[in-house]
Amino acid sequence: MPNTSVTLSTLRLDNPVIPASGTFGFGYEFAEFYDLNILGSISLKGTTKEPRYGNPLPRIAECTDGLINSVGLQNPGVHAVIDEELPKLEAVFHKPAIANISGFSIEDYAYCAELFDADPRIGLLEINVSCPNVHNGGMSFGTQPESAAAVTKAVKAVTKKPVFLKLTPNVTDIASVAKACADAGADGISLINTLLGMRIDLKRRAPVIANKMGGFSGRAILPVALRMVWQVYEAVDIPIIGMGGVASAEDVIEMMLAGATAVQVGAENLVNPWACPQIIEALPAAMEKYGIENLKDIIGGAH
Ligand code: SIN
Repeated sequence: MPNTSVTLSTLRLDNPVIPASGTFGFGYEFAEFYDLNILGSISLKGTTKEPRYGNPLPRIAECTDGLINSVGLQNPGVHAVIDEELPKLEAVFHKPAIANISGFSIEDYAYCAELFDADPRIGLLEINVSCPNVHNGGMSFGTQPESAAAVTKAVKAVTKKPVFLKLTPNVTDIASVAKACADAGADGISLINTLLGMRIDLKRRAPVIANKMGGFSGRAILPVALRMVWQVYEAVDIPIIGMGGVASAEDVIEMMLAGATAVQVGAENLVNPWACPQIIEALPAAMEKYGIENLKDIIGGAH
């Protein structure tokens, strides 16, 4: 039987497949489709200090092989996530989950991180410095090495759990941002978040999305994600969670050969709610086809 287990810092996963934040709610919503315990872990909906209602509608534009979203970090706030959402997840998922944290100030990030640090249901913190859909926060921290490092340091100071910085692809030099996070003490890097894009409604002669622009994700972005995972793997010595357009077991293997230790599946969950279990079930046969006995042996294997 091929070995699919991988380790993200101190968090061991039975397999590398994780539903990506923002495409899987707080996890329990998908329990009606399948037993969630087949998953490596779950990256929870992006959480902020205060509740957020998100951006005005419409927030979604469909594209060839993908979609644009401008959700705007809708979530009930960190206290409600811990008190109301995590108990529902705990009832159906018995592995450590990944908390995904967004903020509008460095203090916001640290505030949420400290609360999740104290929660045994959380095994890893994914710090989103890459949301393209809100002003004065999110992506602005992830576009400069200095501000990404400052968030990293503030979060590391309040938690003993592994801290992974989720980076934006909307930069010219992803390696320098990843390196700044690693030098500031990050335990890992998650990438890529969505690519800034837009669609125009021909009849209205106006942007489809109320917020005009949004983040493009889906199968079409896999080559961009692979390129950036490759570049970050060359720049840092900490584990990478690769994501962007992953839709098959072969995509998981490709992402790991580029340098990922684990892989998140995002937009594909919205097309096919069984995407993750289908990928996990297909992994052993794909590994056998490509002569892989132990999945972790191939991490960065294409370099
Ligand atoms: C959103 O809620 O706008 C998406 C989150 C993200 O892209 O980081």
